[in-house]
Amino acid sequence: MEKQIEELRSSFEEDLKNVKTLKDIESLRVTYLGRKGNLTTILRGMAALSTDERPRMGSLANQLKTFIEERLAGRARELEASETKELIDVTLPGRMPRKGSIHILNQVLTEIEDIFLDLGFQIASGPEVEDDYHNFEALNIPAFHPARDMQATFYFSDRLLLRTHTSPVQIRVMESNGLPVRIIAPGKVYRSDSDVTHTPMFHQVEGLWVEEGITFGHLKGVLEAFIHTLFGRDVAVRFRPSFFPFTEPSAEVDIGCVICKGKGCRVCKDTGWLEILGSGMVDPEVFKYVGIDSEKVTGFAFGLGVERVAMLKYGIDDIRLFFENDLRFLTQF
Ligand code: PHE
Repeated sequence: MEKQIEELRSSFEEDLKNVKTLKDIESLRVTYLGRKGNLTTILRGMAALSTDERPRMGSLANQLKTFIEERLAGRARELEASETKELIDVTLPGRMPRKGSIHILNQVLTEIEDIFLDLGFQIASGPEVEDDYHNFEALNIPAFHPARDMQATFYFSDRLLLRTHTSPVQIRVMESNGLPVRIIAPGKVYRSDSDVTHTPMFHQVEGLWVEEGITFGHLKGVLEAFIHTLFGRDVAVRFRPSFFPFTEPSAEVDIGCVICKGKGCRVCKDTGWLEILGSGMVDPEVFKYVGIDSEKVTGFAFGLGVERVAMLKYGIDDIRLFFENDLRFLTQF
């Protein structure tokens, strides 16, 4: 019987080497220790032994039993550890929570504001729901004037509308502030227009500097400084004669095409230039509406589109991307 026990021990050790899963452990336990198991059979055979042999064999068999139990438990612990390791892949990157960020238009707007704040401008604002007087009349665009058609307007009534530009803030500031005035007025404006370069709502920044002795030279100096800070020292700037009812003379300001560097391409329609803002000396007619003596005081004004500046700065070719809130677009900035 001693030999039987020894053989059982070595066959168990052999079998244990082939154990690969927790299931294998369980079937090995049944084979050796189960009710019909090999060792159980041996233990049952004890009854047939003589009384002086029985204690020694009993003890040997029990040692083997403890041995098998311990080895099975040890191997089970190893397997459990490695099976959990397979479930948790510690090499996977962590799941990062998405962080919010400042919208690209607000980033550009802040940049624009900072440049003018450095130049000594203050920030002003006015209502988006405007009256006809501030949006048109006082800006020298009387009823039935063809310039009203320059901007397709959303009307609430004959008198109330969504402002089509930030220029009405010029009037409001000159009505309520003393001189001098040196402000920018950023904000939303609305026009009934929609395609790849127009959305019904977009953003403008108005500028107005009114003070004794202000000349077209100041206009050029301020706007050149602004453009060179925003687009870099190397960008070309040109002032092109234009018309606005509320400025005289008026100029549109172009920068050398940021895409083709002036060689001519689809974006600049082969001109090498891109328009970025409208400007001019405040028309004396406008000063009359706000009670400023145009013989003593002069000023200049400008208006620029924030989306347009952002599109040129970042090479974005569809204005609608700003408002679709597609994270694949927004997270690039
Ligand atoms: N308000 C004009 C526009 O929306 C821009 C402008 C502002 C032009 C101030 C001259 C002076 O097109």
